[in-house]
Amino acid sequence: MDGLKRQAAARALDEVRDGMKLGLGTGSTAKHFVDLLGEKVRGGLKVVGVPTSEATRAQAQACGIALTTLDEIDHLDLTVDGADEVDAALNLIKGGGGALLREKIVAAASDRMIVIADDSKWVDALGRFPLPIEVIPFGLAATRAAIAKAFAEAGVAGQLVLRTAKDGHVFVTDGGHWIVDAHLGRIEDAPRLAGLLSVIPGVVEHGLFIGLAGTVVLAAAQGIRVVERR
Ligand code: 5RP
Repeated sequence: MDGLKRQAAARALDEVRDGMKLGLGTGSTAKHFVDLLGEKVRGGLKVVGVPTSEATRAQAQACGIALTTLDEIDHLDLTVDGADEVDAALNLIKGGGGALLREKIVAAASDRMIVIADDSKWVDALGRFPLPIEVIPFGLAATRAAIAKAFAEAGVAGQLVLRTAKDGHVFVTDGGHWIVDAHLGRIEDAPRLAGLLSVIPGVVEHGLFIGLAGTVVLAAAQGIRVVERR
């Protein structure tokens, strides 16, 4: 699986040009991309990156990639990131690694987003992977109730589980928020659910990425498949 992830990352690297401003994703697949990009940079490629997490920032710095922020610049040419699920419309579930908020800000500020993944991430319908929803700790019970109401309106149901870290404590995002993971099984209308979740005051962001990915590079044992959004 790790070999497939690296192949997808290598294919996305073909799209990188000298002088580009790049969004750098988070997770085990994006890690390969940053690693390979670092090799190119050490070979003379000139790019500047905006990392989507503190983990990616540390990796990119160690690789010698020049970094900037979306405070200093207001748009990016290309973001390359992984995903937890991808459907045929190239809608995504992201946030398994907890970086969904910065990932979405960075993707939305980019002219183009390429998703890199092994082909196990390709699904008929989103939702088998628990949907991460980043929330403000204040008023959590009220926010959970509002999320449950949104689920009912969108015709989905399932458990909402507060994410914990390996040490058993509540998982805290880079932005200082918490995540509830929604075990929905199948989301028939992801754009509708995304809209309903987005207007809940205690929800900072959710892991449904609708209309952001333009290209998906899927690596399978049989080879690489590149899917463009229609
Ligand atoms: C992190 C993410 C990741 O892109 C997603 O979880 C996929 O990770 P991996 O490449 O390790 O499977 O959204 O918040």
